[in-house]
Amino acid sequence: MQLQIAPSILSADFLNLGRDIQILNKSADLIHLDVMDGVQVPNLSFGFSVTDAVSKVASIPMDAHLMICNPAKYADRFIDGGVSYLSFHLEAAGDGSAELLSHIRSRGVKAGLAINPDVPVSRLFPYIGKADFFLIMSVFAGFGGQKFIPESIDRIAMLRERLVSESDPALIEVDGGVGTSNIKELYQAGASMFVAGSAVFKGGDPAAAIQSLREAAL
Ligand code: DX5
Ligand code: ZN
Repeated sequence: MQLQIAPSILSADFLNLGRDIQILNKSADLIHLDVMDGVQVPNLSFGFSVTDAVSKVASIPMDAHLMICNPAKYADRFIDGGVSYLSFHLEAAGDGSAELLSHIRSRGVKAGLAINPDVPVSRLFPYIGKADFFLIMSVFAGFGGQKFIPESIDRIAMLRERLVSESDPALIEVDGGVGTSNIKELYQAGASMFVAGSAVFKGGDPAAAIQSLREAAL
């Protein structure tokens, strides 16, 4: 499976965001946009003003991760803003999840369903065949820089096994505490889209950090 590195701009330098996006254009596969509303998760991040600005300079696909209540209300606005991948939480969309996945797909965007670490992976199984990717949170959604939850590896393996048994090509994205020390195990367990905030931006050289992640995965 082709590995994709999706740096989260939550940890970027917002005073030099254009510069950071230009670096990612040359070194990353996706730009991960963490949208938080302070209700679905205990933190606020950014909304359309930032994602629209990023879209003007991004030359690689944007991957928006909605950590908001009522994601169905805002999905089209993110799609109009140019995202290529759009995920939302099962905890937020509940019974409306299948319909929202289908709507996102109908607009030509990759649809993703996300769960926090306390939601059983089996809750995703009914959506196999209806999503282009599944986002397994390996920390509780809300903040960058948290410690990776090791049980996430088994959760990914369980989901991958189920996808294989149903011959479904959906990808698995992992988000939270991903770095050079765990990326290989995560890749082997079946994830292929790797979100990384701190690991990419905190060392001061995002391009080199992305290269290190790629090398550590192999
Ligand atoms: C957490 C976000 C993550 C976060 C990852 O709610 O969804 O994308 O920015 O940051 P790190 O890699 O620092 O855990
Ligand atoms: Zn995220």
